[in-house]
Amino acid sequence: MSDSIVIKNKIQNFNKKIEISGDKSISIRWVLLSSLVKGVSTAKNLLKSEDVMAAINAIKKLGIKVNIHKNICKITGRGINGYKYKKNIIINAQNSGTLGRLILGLLINTPYPIKLIGDKSLSKRDFKRITDPLSKFGAKFVLKNKKNLPLTIHGSKNLKPITYKENRGSAQCKSSVIFAGMRTEGQTKIKAKKSRNHTELLVKYLNLPITVKLNKSYDYIKINKIHKVKKLNYNIPSDISSSAFFIVLTTLLNDSRLIIKNVNINPSRTGIITILKKMGANIKFKNKKNYKGEQIADILIKSPKSLKGINCPTKLNSSAIDEFLVIFLVAAKAKGISYFKNLKELNEKESPRLEWAEKILKKIGVKTLATNDSIKIYGNPKLKINKKIIIKNYLKDHRIFMASVIAALSFGGNWQIHDKSSIKTSFKDFLKILHKLKNVK
Ligand code: S3P
Repeated sequence: MSDSIVIKNKIQNFNKKIEISGDKSISIRWVLLSSLVKGVSTAKNLLKSEDVMAAINAIKKLGIKVNIHKNICKITGRGINGYKYKKNIIINAQNSGTLGRLILGLLINTPYPIKLIGDKSLSKRDFKRITDPLSKFGAKFVLKNKKNLPLTIHGSKNLKPITYKENRGSAQCKSSVIFAGMRTEGQTKIKAKKSRNHTELLVKYLNLPITVKLNKSYDYIKINKIHKVKKLNYNIPSDISSSAFFIVLTTLLNDSRLIIKNVNINPSRTGIITILKKMGANIKFKNKKNYKGEQIADILIKSPKSLKGINCPTKLNSSAIDEFLVIFLVAAKAKGISYFKNLKELNEKESPRLEWAEKILKKIGVKTLATNDSIKIYGNPKLKINKKIIIKNYLKDHRIFMASVIAALSFGGNWQIHDKSSIKTSFKDFLKILHKLKNVK
């Protein structure tokens, strides 16, 4: 069967209410933290994507029992030292940087070496950024090319707490060091550039010994060794990164209206909303509530009258990092020039996304000026595509696939987009939900 999709028509206007699957970052963190609990933790609406299933398979390899039935997932742990290690196990993080990096923090004291592998995309990504700080605790790592997967972790019994400055705005690095700190006698101190804070919120909710002091651009985190983790029953809210495709689609159309129910609107994730609103988008949060430290709301999006370019403040980069591909599509249709800078991290994702964004924008006839960490997009409010566009060989990056589909449905043209199955990484219902809005072939 072909693994590509053909789109020849723009989507028609809609007025709908949709629900989106569970948040990926919270799902993976829930799996990993629940593996430390003595007893059963239950999650509702856990994202059942390949990244999260890889996390489940990883803890199963460590001897933890997992049971999934319909929308309910139960994890039965044996306490913080409850992993049952077999010698020479291999953990496969598949496509997931979050799993690959976070789990290393929990494995910092492994008595036997464990090999960590990943797919082609993950094997190209930088793991030195996390093995460097984790080595300072006392663990040892052997990495391919000194920075890539496969790697082997040799844990230590004599861990020492570290002081760590996280400068990239990487929640994965910050979280992995928090996990390692939880296993280490003494106090680990982290100064972390702002990034998503789901780990801190979960660890706080669990009453574990963490303190977080918020500052303007950095957070100061202190974490001590933990002794027990209470049960973590959790109702996972919907993922704003998956919602982003539909937020942008509605924003690029005329006379459409969409409600997305029960989305996580943690301020460390809502950069896309701030950016699009500055560009003229019509987006509102309804029924806001707090859930175990996270903020949740329904998102109401209406097609705007017009869109204008933005000189995007770099302080929003980290809270919109997974959404730039679709934000760039809005810039392509906005009046004026948009400028996005300090985006080196975008080329460190599942594929080099800044490079791919430029390629796709060029293909659809949008003028751009890019460097290795910035892009200027010359918007065209009348943007229409009349030619054949083929998107392939992009390391099966799920977000490249979905952003390309949104571009096709918004701007027209005759598109063939390869590697449809990449959506299973984060959002396997993406096309199903689009079908509910209209018929996509
Ligand atoms: C994530 C953090 C971000 C993000 C990724 C998920 C997380 O990566 O891009 O999709 O769940 O911690 P970095 O920490 O590398 O910025």
